[in-house]
Amino acid sequence: MKKIGIMTTGGDCSGLNTVIQRLYRGASLRGWKTFGILDGTDGLCETPPRVIEFNDSTLPIEAARLAGSFLHSGRAGALNFETAAKSGLLERFNKKIRKSLLELKLDAIILIGGNGSISLAWCNREIYNGLQLICIPKTIDMDIPLTDKTIGFNTAVQQLTSFCDQLMLTARSHHRWFVVQTMGRDCGQLALNAGIAIGATAILIPEIKFDVNSLITCIKNAPSDYGIILVSEGVSLRGHSGKPAEIISRKLTSAGIVNRTAYPEHTQRVGDTTAADRILAARMADCALHAIENNETYVMTAINDCKCETVSLKAFFESGSITEDPNIPDIKTSDAYVSPDDPLLGIATDMGIYIGETK
Ligand code: F6P
Repeated sequence: MKKIGIMTTGGDCSGLNTVIQRLYRGASLRGWKTFGILDGTDGLCETPPRVIEFNDSTLPIEAARLAGSFLHSGRAGALNFETAAKSGLLERFNKKIRKSLLELKLDAIILIGGNGSISLAWCNREIYNGLQLICIPKTIDMDIPLTDKTIGFNTAVQQLTSFCDQLMLTARSHHRWFVVQTMGRDCGQLALNAGIAIGATAILIPEIKFDVNSLITCIKNAPSDYGIILVSEGVSLRGHSGKPAEIISRKLTSAGIVNRTAYPEHTQRVGDTTAADRILAARMADCALHAIENNETYVMTAINDCKCETVSLKAFFESGSITEDPNIPDIKTSDAYVSPDDPLLGIATDMGIYIGETK
């Protein structure tokens, strides 16, 4: 009988509980025991490690669609890979995690995380020696290399779309514009997808340079006198600091365009999990359990060409663009961005949406 540990790390999103529930059910059917590690690596850092054993009533089916992580994802500011590296404690932190994993005598650990957590697990892989490490990608940012889908993204696009759909109605009533700042870190996928869904007038993303005068011209020539300008949080304007939506809003006001700013913020992470995300969670959980049966380790579940499969963490790490934080030694992440040949860029342009200076 195998002992499987499950943990969620990094920012939460919708679909985490669905994947946890599917993992538990699939593992039980195989006669395996499942343990939830509370608060991700924070829970492993404590003595004894904070762990619960799952049973049929731990996470009822009707709760599995709810956003957030039933296992929690770590306390803000607690000791984790990043804070440990920053304070020169990484070696001690790794030793502690390793000790806890050995004490728990797990056969496999399933880490449900974003590009940061998965990259860090790979870069510090010796702590998982002797057990199988299977990662499941989740993020609303869609910045994970080697997978076409990540758990939580579809719900986040839906949340942002619903938020903007509502704003569009008040925008129309008052003949004015809304500058909406989206999440997404340095990746523009969330803004790009929701922008197409709502028929935004402009979508500004970190990957594409834009010109404020062209943006103003596009708004002034728009077929309506109201609409939405989506600005991804990673957008920066040379010579300006502060929230990108505020900066754009001020520029529009100076050009005589009446506008307001709006920030959906963390509501993008907490929608009722969409059917698409629930199905994705079920597929990824199933793939992770098969990977354990097949004695795989250091792999991530992924969707490629509509198939759910595993890819090696080595390939995941090497295929992204490696980002090093100059202020945090030993921390490297593998990131994905909107590529210049993403078909959605052409579709947005054909819809008359201003997406920046693509030529
Ligand atoms: O990575 C997910 C994400 O929601 C980003 O889009 C956003 O920049 C960040 O996390 C917000 O983090 P926090 O929850 O720490 O405010």
